[in-house]
Amino acid sequence: MSGAPTVAAVLRAARAAGVERLDARLLLAFVLGRSTGWLLAHDDAPLEPAAHGRYDELVRRRARGEPLAYLVGRKEFHGLELAVTSDVLVPRPDTETLVDWALECLDDAAPARVLDLGTGSGAIALALAHRRPRARVTAVDASARALAIAAGNGRRLGLAVEWLEGDWFAPLAGRRFELIVANPPYVAEGDPHLAALGHEPRSALVSGPGGLDALCGIVHAAPRHLEAGGARRRVRLTRYFPTPALTFPKVNSIVSRGMPVMNGLITRPRPNGTPRVSEIDSHCS
Ligand SMILES: C[S@@+](CC[C@H](N)C(=O)[O-])C[C@H]1O[C@@H](n2cnc3c(N)ncnc32)[C@H](O)[C@@H]1O
Repeated sequence: MSGAPTVAAVLRAARAAGVERLDARLLLAFVLGRSTGWLLAHDDAPLEPAAHGRYDELVRRRARGEPLAYLVGRKEFHGLELAVTSDVLVPRPDTETLVDWALECLDDAAPARVLDLGTGSGAIALALAHRRPRARVTAVDASARALAIAAGNGRRLGLAVEWLEGDWFAPLAGRRFELIVANPPYVAEGDPHLAALGHEPRSALVSGPGGLDALCGIVHAAPRHLEAGGARRRVRLTRYFPTPALTFPKVNSIVSRGMPVMNGLITRPRPNGTPRVSEIDSHCS
């Protein structure tokens, strides 16, 4: 195919268009159905016109800020490969920390009931079902489209999760769990960082004027859905992107001074005592 652009040439063009080196390689590997290692060993290989056209289109979209995961339709999370579309938040590596905290709470041998609120792609629920096969995992999301993606991921991975559509605890009347996890929307309306997140569903990102509406709603309702025997509430903050201090005025100062953005919420029973989420309750009036 004389005159056809080579692997090296199209990668150079992608870089010139503003796409990072690794992303350019991953996109080309995706288009060609090859590994990134193959690209390195075949940088003089010519591209068919169809592959070149498809690659150009993906490079253009990536340069406009569309997440790589949407372009290739998948994202790895906690060792699982998940299908993702623009109907779900792209699972973030820092959310794996939430899964790790949850795993610490779950005994391998005990058949605990676990709830993931705002499941999106199913990332947290599926990671927990994968790592704790004896747990009975339920996942809720208000978005039917997100749930369709999550359920598809569950089927493909052979992991059983109960998927429920609804507003936080609404589909769970009368039901209790040993562990509740959530990575709810936590960005304040009007936060300047939203501009860079425009490809992801707004409903997965924004939660009221201060960003705390979902968190506070979940924390208030959680005791009614925790197994009797007490509740231990832990909110952990991680530095994901800087949010103005005003967005998390009190939660931030109590939980982790200087770490401005919430990554996730874990609510789980404590061996003795009554369900209690007082620390955060007092900041969610
Ligand atoms: C930050 S995303 C988290 C997605 C996934 N758990 C993850 O960590 O990648 C928040 C999710 O909460 C869902 N959500 C927003 N409002 C909701 C509500 N009122 N009830 C249930 N789910 C809601 C969104 O659809 C979105 O999937």
